Amino acid sequence: MSGDRNVVITIDGPAASGKSSTAQWVAEKLGFRHVDSGSLYRALTAALLRQGAPPERWTPAVMTGQGSRVALRPEPTSFLTLIDGVPAEEEIRGTLVTSHVSLVARVPEVRAWVNARVREAAQDHDVVVDGRDMGTAVFPEATLKIFLIADPWERARRRLAQRLERGATEEEIAAETALLVQRDARDATQTVQAKDAVVLDTTYLTQAEQVERIVALARAVSHEA
Ligand code: C5P
Repeated sequence: MSGDRNVVITIDGPAASGKSSTAQWVAEKLGFRHVDSGSLYRALTAALLRQGAPPERWTPAVMTGQGSRVALRPEPTSFLTLIDGVPAEEEIRGTLVTSHVSLVARVPEVRAWVNARVREAAQDHDVVVDGRDMGTAVFPEATLKIFLIADPWERARRRLAQRLERGATEEEIAAETALLVQRDARDATQTVQAKDAVVLDTTYLTQAEQVERIVALARAVSHEA
């Protein structure tokens, strides 16, 4: 897809709605680069946790001060998240980071820092960007905006299937659903559906079907432009 301006596809939605993996797959199909805004919130949180100071002492200045330790390294269709110059993908997806990240993401100064990094990453490339508010706060003029939703039980089941590599029990899914719904509540203010977003309910779709729909929408929109 070509033109004067870079193409920007935003994929927003609640926790575990499949945004990141879908965005990565769409980027590969279209030859775009995937920018995962959540990875920046996670990397700042991991850097804070590494320092060892208790979360009560994480002032906005301390939080954004970690920014100089965090970087995105471009790969052909994605970015690697680095902390202190070293890839930290596994660490930033751990449960300790996940349980602290909303605390960090709530801070306006942190949001401004992340949004600036995401804009930089999207500067000279066609991109698929995923997060909570990419279609509103960062790219209100995006070429295509998707808002992914799915039933919480199904989101919990998918997340556990990924983590455990076996079928989860009903009890495990119930416990994970409760955690997800809590995180949805903590993230509610920053999760914003753009008025011009296409809402895709993925509860009964396979990931391949979600990806096909988004790719088809991207092609339709860019033919119109
Ligand atoms: O998408 P992911 O689960 O990796 O995001 C981690 C956390 O980062 C979310 O729970 C949310 O608190 C925050 N986040 C955000 N705005 C974004 C992306 C992520 O507040 N655009």
